[in-house]
Amino acid sequence: MEKTRIHIFDTTLRDGEQVPGCKLEQKQKIIIAKRLDLLGVDVIEAGFPISSPGDFDSVMKIAKVVKNATVCGLSRAVMKDIEVAADALKYARKPRIHTGIGTSDSHIIHKLRTTRDNVIERAVAAVKYAKSFVEDVEFYAEDAGRTDNEFLARVLEEVIKVGATVVNIPDTTGYCLPHEYGAKIKYLVDNVKGIDKVQISTHCHNDLGLATANSVAGVVAGALQVESTINGIGERAGNTAMEEVVMILKHRYGDRFETGIDTTQFHDISRFVSDQMGMVVQANKAIVGDNAFAHSSGIHQDGVIKERSTYEIIDPVEVGVNKSSIILTARSGRAALAFRAKEIGFDLMKKELDIAYTHFLEWADRMKEVNDEALRQLLEECLSRPASSDW
Ligand code: KIV
Ligand code: ZN
Repeated sequence: MEKTRIHIFDTTLRDGEQVPGCKLEQKQKIIIAKRLDLLGVDVIEAGFPISSPGDFDSVMKIAKVVKNATVCGLSRAVMKDIEVAADALKYARKPRIHTGIGTSDSHIIHKLRTTRDNVIERAVAAVKYAKSFVEDVEFYAEDAGRTDNEFLARVLEEVIKVGATVVNIPDTTGYCLPHEYGAKIKYLVDNVKGIDKVQISTHCHNDLGLATANSVAGVVAGALQVESTINGIGERAGNTAMEEVVMILKHRYGDRFETGIDTTQFHDISRFVSDQMGMVVQANKAIVGDNAFAHSSGIHQDGVIKERSTYEIIDPVEVGVNKSSIILTARSGRAALAFRAKEIGFDLMKKELDIAYTHFLEWADRMKEVNDEALRQLLEECLSRPASSDW
């Protein structure tokens, strides 16, 4: 079966940078954009050009340096926004304007204070205007997650008629459950005239911890583009974590879907973005957390030492981590101690291991983790000999 190519749209520099405390300097944004380009993302949303002169300038500079990816600028369905976005993108090899408007009743009544018909008029006018500057225009139906499907289909049909190339279905508030989001995408695939000519995009927020699950449900239902950020940073509880979606598609849907991402760069780019933004990656974060490939309980360690796949579904090398780590704690067993001792040059005989293990448990009860330095000291003390490599 031929695989469907899923496009990865990165919004680390736009939705990600909206996070309080994550503001980046222009230089940092440019380096991140270059790294995203090398990673193989299809689209880089470089910013929201009308929002500030600084953002305008960053989008323009990023547009100049990005070699492969499409560079995208966000705008509201407002003519001035669109003009400014087009101007910021004028040096991009592949420019895209991302414009849109709220479509849920909540947004129409409370935020826009208008009518559904007026929203359609504004959406159409925005896409038409954006098309006068660039060929590639993505339309977002903000709060699509809570938008009535029939109305959403009407809006999309109209913007497709005037040339939208991608239609983005944001679950702006992270409200949907995976089966609901998947059903929404399927409804659009089945009911919007012209939908086969454009790409449907997912853009899922993580308010209920479902951003990744919803994005995957969207792809399974027919979406061809996934919007995401490195480490899942984004408004409130965050956006969809790119590394999670890409690894799910690779490992669980590898026979149906493919992306252009070089997954071996995930660990490094995750750390880089985290350092630049000062946003710590939680240790238990899937794929890129410090503990994602670390084993500390004796039963798991014994299994992994014998055969990695007993407790790991992904080879860490695939995401740029050298190897799985065996962490020595008071929950570790003899197998782990022997393994780690060997790594630092102590090939322990059975009797030596018994002696060392008794001492190790005492140390481990006092320390959270017995690191290489402590282990070396412990072994030298209790065995009264240096490591074999030192002989
Ligand atoms: O979450 C959202 O709806 C957005 C849009 C601007 C695409 O970020
Ligand atoms: Zn968003």
